[in-house]
Amino acid sequence: MDEQLSQWQVTVEDLLRVRLDQSQGCPDRLRQAMSYSLLAGGKRLRPLLVLMACEACGEEAEAAMPAACAIEMVHTYSLIHDDLPAMDDDDERRGQPTSHIQFDEATAILAGDGLLTLAFEMLATDVKPPEVAAACCADLAGAAGMCGMVGGQMADLIAENGVHAAVRTPAEEDRTTSAVEQLESIHRRKTGRLLCSALTMGGRIAGANPQTLHNLTTYGEAIGLAFQIADDLLDVCGDSETMGKRVRKDKNAGKLTYPALLGEAESRLRAEQLVNDACEAIANFGSRGQRLEAMAHYVIERDR
Ligand code: IPE
Ligand code: IPE
Ligand code: MG
Ligand code: MG
Ligand code: MG
Repeated sequence: MDEQLSQWQVTVEDLLRVRLDQSQGCPDRLRQAMSYSLLAGGKRLRPLLVLMACEACGEEAEAAMPAACAIEMVHTYSLIHDDLPAMDDDDERRGQPTSHIQFDEATAILAGDGLLTLAFEMLATDVKPPEVAAACCADLAGAAGMCGMVGGQMADLIAENGVHAAVRTPAEEDRTTSAVEQLESIHRRKTGRLLCSALTMGGRIAGANPQTLHNLTTYGEAIGLAFQIADDLLDVCGDSETMGKRVRKDKNAGKLTYPALLGEAESRLRAEQLVNDACEAIANFGSRGQRLEAMAHYVIERDR
């Protein structure tokens, strides 16, 4: 990883820690649970995308630090809730026991709630000027909410073991097409929208024009889908130790995934195609888009 990215990660890490420490009135147990998951060392991909997009649009990345932290809080909340027994029922995350195992279910739910709300407090308070803060709040809320991540998570659960229930046509080909459409619609919402928001918040903070925001959105949609295809593939081929979470779970859980539907080889092809689409969308950033281009490749080449 380039030196600048590691430095950005350290700055994000420090800022997250400081923000959690400023929590007068917060019960110790709640703060502990929030920092347990937030500071457990994820890849910090979404914060990096915020900073990269801001830089690619010609602004100092530091201006986007509050938004970078906010989106990591929303993401971490989504992971805590995703792991709950009522959802994916996982016992390991980021190399340690999941929140509800380490604490208890109620605390895990509240830690998620606390992170979600703290994210918007931070955006509203620390992003300048206030009009941009408001735009970022609306952007992230839309991406995280009922038509974005939360909606995608609902669709993901509904689709469990239900591939064929959603299918009306008898022809095998139509069945696959329809299931792929359903799958992409889930992936775009549960994972893609948040990644997109990282990019457009970074762009907004840099004062990007609508055409540039559109290009960032196209890039974000493509890498968002590619990212979840890679996650599905890593569940099949990845190493649990490296990933810090359990693998080979999706099949037994009856999840609608890319490899389950199209097989590994075709899933990989689709992911590569999406990375090419993403790079095309940011071609006119020229050399300022280099980090975004490298990130697009990393999204599918990663092993964790
Ligand atoms: C995992 O996200 C959940 C998905 C959206 C697939 P990451 O792979 O970015 O998890 P961390 O943040 O590195 O732990
Ligand atoms: C989760 O997708 C997406 C979220 C919104 C958290 P997965 O359920 O596939 O993520 P992992 O594999 O548990 O990290
Ligand atoms: Mg899930
Ligand atoms: Mg899960
Ligand atoms: Mg997964």
